[in-house]
Amino acid sequence: MGSPADVNRPSQESGAEEGSTSTPWAPGPSGVALLEDHPDRLQRLARRHLWMHFTRMGSYDEHHAVPVIVRGEGCYVYDEHGKRYLDGLSALYCVNVGHGRSELAAAAAAQMNELAFYTNWSYAHPPSIELAARIAGLAPGNLNRVFFTSGGSEAVESAWKLAKAYHHAQGDHNRHKLISRNLSYHGTSMGALSATGLTALRTPFEPMTPGGIHVPNTNSYRWREDRDPLWAADAIEEAILFEGPETVAAVILEPVQNGGGCFVPQDGYFQRVREICDRHGVLLISDEVICSWGRIGHWFGCERYDYVPDMITTAKGISSAYAPLGAVIASDHIAEPFLHGTAAFTHGFTFGGHPVSCAVAMANIDVMQREELCANVRANEGPFREMLDSLRDLPIVGDVRGAGYFQAIELVKDKETKETFDARESEELLRGYLSGELYRRGLICRTDDRGDPIVQLSPPLIAGAEQFEEIEAILRPVLSEASERMERWSSPSKA
Ligand SMILES: Cc1ncc(COP(=O)(O)O)c(C=O)c1O
Repeated sequence: MGSPADVNRPSQESGAEEGSTSTPWAPGPSGVALLEDHPDRLQRLARRHLWMHFTRMGSYDEHHAVPVIVRGEGCYVYDEHGKRYLDGLSALYCVNVGHGRSELAAAAAAQMNELAFYTNWSYAHPPSIELAARIAGLAPGNLNRVFFTSGGSEAVESAWKLAKAYHHAQGDHNRHKLISRNLSYHGTSMGALSATGLTALRTPFEPMTPGGIHVPNTNSYRWREDRDPLWAADAIEEAILFEGPETVAAVILEPVQNGGGCFVPQDGYFQRVREICDRHGVLLISDEVICSWGRIGHWFGCERYDYVPDMITTAKGISSAYAPLGAVIASDHIAEPFLHGTAAFTHGFTFGGHPVSCAVAMANIDVMQREELCANVRANEGPFREMLDSLRDLPIVGDVRGAGYFQAIELVKDKETKETFDARESEELLRGYLSGELYRRGLICRTDDRGDPIVQLSPPLIAGAEQFEEIEAILRPVLSEASERMERWSSPSKA
């Protein structure tokens, strides 16, 4: 996984950290002045005590700093030295309305003062009720029932369990399998991980939750030209028939697949998948943890591709991550068996639909509506894409793809043959140079080689021409240099 400054160096750290209980850290109006009093302290404490997610902790030592972000404003964040970065990743596809919105902070504070917490287990509270109704109003079709979680993996986990429980309630006791696509990422809890189609992420945790079945994705960049464009959709039917339709509970797909680098669907793909699911009594889950809340120009990604799933899973942009929240949005027919007599969906999380998170999500949606952020993405997608497409003249840029403010550049060794970098080359390209250099020049984006190597961009939905120019001004020289470096690295005699 490409982390911003993953330079792949062994850690020099050992022994206990002195001072770990000294001056408590408190956020100041800027955070920066406070941290300058202790230039090394956070670095030492981070290296000694913090376990960062998906991070090679051994990469950080006295010479390789942990990237510490202390403040955010609009499309930008600042590190502990006050250096500014363009947040081209919206803090992992999350901060859709941009950083530093005091109105969201005020909504959180007001809710904490009123009712800091109550659970949604057997009780309800106004923020979860209001938010559920508001989401139902925005969601397409009859997706009217909202089951809150604390994040995306929990939403995926819940949707799979709900699919199984739904079939069970219909007397279909054997429908338990979940079909997803190769290279897809659906989260890390054991059920969600079983749906995730990334071998390296799964292997250390085998055996998986039974029932995760994988089918081809929609990466047509690497398809033969004469291939039927709906081939990948038909592969889902083949898998259903192979497994036995009576064993398959659901298919889970992202509108635009993140893992592998923003794979978009072919025209008619989702319509074909919907038909296949209906034909075999299989539910369709649209995993929109990234692709909802304006990311691809609509409240929900399924609207862009004109299909109505049985369930939507969402998180991240629902609250612009000012507070953690996720949800399963279920159609009326999915919820129906659980709404009568003694029936119940026997599943939940203490913090699912936390009142503070729900209040923040309401304020987040207020901002999105007032500033028409979905429309802003639709209006600016063209110029954003043109800027990225203009980089195609660089020898290392093989493909540019994506939708809305969710775009990827695939990096190749040979543009004509589409030859990709092998594992060693990719390590050198991404961790040896690109991720560190982009960060050093002030651009946070994702460099990733879970599939073929890519650079991915997903800026806040308020971004516009100024940010696109800034992205290009950094990407062009860095990709150009990357290309030359890789040439020298692969054939040292040419140097
Ligand atoms: C499509 C998709 N599903 C699920 C998840 C898991 O979400 P979380 O990290 O909030 O558990 C992610 C995370 O990026 C995701 O992109």
